[in-house]
Amino acid sequence: MNKKFYIETYGCQMNVADSELVANILRNNNFELTNDHKQADLVLINTCAVRDKAEQRVIGRLGFFKSAKRNNPNLKIGVLGCMAQRMKQKLADEQHVVDFVMGPDTYKRLPEVLENVNNGTREIDVVLSKKETYDDLKPYRYNDNKISGFVSISRGCDNMCTFCIVPFTRGRERSRNPESILNEVIDLRNDGYKELTLLGQNVDKYNWNKGELKFAGLLEMVAKEVPDMRVRFATSYPQDMTDEVLYAIKNYDNICKYIHLPVQSGSTRMLGIMKRGYTREWYLNRIEAIRRIIPNCAISTDIIAGFCGETEEDHLQTLDLMQTVQYDYAYMFKYSVRPNTYAARRLPDDVPEDDKSRRLSEIIELQNKLSLESNKRDMNKVFEVLVEGTSKRDENRLYGRNSQNKVVIFEGDKSLIGSLVDVKVESHTQATLLGKLVNSDK
Ligand code: 5AD
Ligand code: SF4
Repeated sequence: MNKKFYIETYGCQMNVADSELVANILRNNNFELTNDHKQADLVLINTCAVRDKAEQRVIGRLGFFKSAKRNNPNLKIGVLGCMAQRMKQKLADEQHVVDFVMGPDTYKRLPEVLENVNNGTREIDVVLSKKETYDDLKPYRYNDNKISGFVSISRGCDNMCTFCIVPFTRGRERSRNPESILNEVIDLRNDGYKELTLLGQNVDKYNWNKGELKFAGLLEMVAKEVPDMRVRFATSYPQDMTDEVLYAIKNYDNICKYIHLPVQSGSTRMLGIMKRGYTREWYLNRIEAIRRIIPNCAISTDIIAGFCGETEEDHLQTLDLMQTVQYDYAYMFKYSVRPNTYAARRLPDDVPEDDKSRRLSEIIELQNKLSLESNKRDMNKVFEVLVEGTSKRDENRLYGRNSQNKVVIFEGDKSLIGSLVDVKVESHTQATLLGKLVNSDK
């Protein structure tokens, strides 16, 4: 009989995609997936290290699984991903419940590691690779709704922003072979998927064969290959996002009009301390290019409040930039020191906690207002919506997303799930658009 594994995933979309690779590897090695941890012989936690909060949640889960292990002494527990890579041996030393620790580039060794663990050795494999892109593995897509799937195009990050742990946990930047990307895209289409998201820590640095194929070219290639599927991508980087990419988005109807462009701070001085490689003016020029080339494009961002040395004036510049850009959506965070980063080693974490919290609240409050205004501008517009499911609150209502990545809720029959329909926006909240079906026979 097959053994059963249970997996929990924290952090970004890349981790979700990695868990699907891990699931594939295990299924090829006589394991089957269960979503009930009580049934599992193996529990895996795929972790994030980007902020302390994400790590604390994992520590909490490990505490929880300690009692599960008491009930089932044969249960094995493995920690994967970024926190595993960051803490290495220390994680197993501090958390006795952990049987093995594996970083993001080591997953092909899982069968071997499991065998060693079953023979009583504790395994720590955190070797980072300059080459591994898992080209030859087909993700086992247990996470998604069979409508929208992730396709990773590159791994790692060479940027070295001073606050960020990712270059340490995911290693050097490397691009995946376009042929294997296309094969995975075609698999998705053949499996009936309607949307895909190309994933990379910085998609704009995609580079195959020394410049032979860059991100704009790849995006076009994918859009042409599957004209009936929606194409999304994340994450863009302000310094590297070229006009060619913007023209590709404009020229292909099936590339979604939505760009996530993390700014982190609106102050050129702070951007310098963060080593982001661009100024406020450069960033605003990129926003201007998006608005000029793709007028109906939605833009979201990431913002950090209270990074090392941030003054009130810097903070006001962030608020001012948010107003200028009029973001449709934002992910907003308080700065959290990450061990071993440049900031942790060299820069004092000198913004008082109260100021950090207040600045973050001001940022969130402003964004709530901007999101509401953005949704208000969509009143009475008709959007093409990819229907993803029924609304959690009301079985008779469907939800989906428009090209701009906004959630749209409307009344309709379940048979529409998975298809594209036109919806007219009739009201809105800060978080969602509410509308009426205008035609469903596309
Ligand atoms: N503290 C707070 N937020 C961080 N991010 C990355 N590192 C940190 C940190 N040390 C945020 C950035 C990034 C997003 C994924 O997480 O805004 O874009
Ligand atoms: Fe978290 Fe960053 Fe790792 Fe994704 S890449 S899991 S956001 S630390």
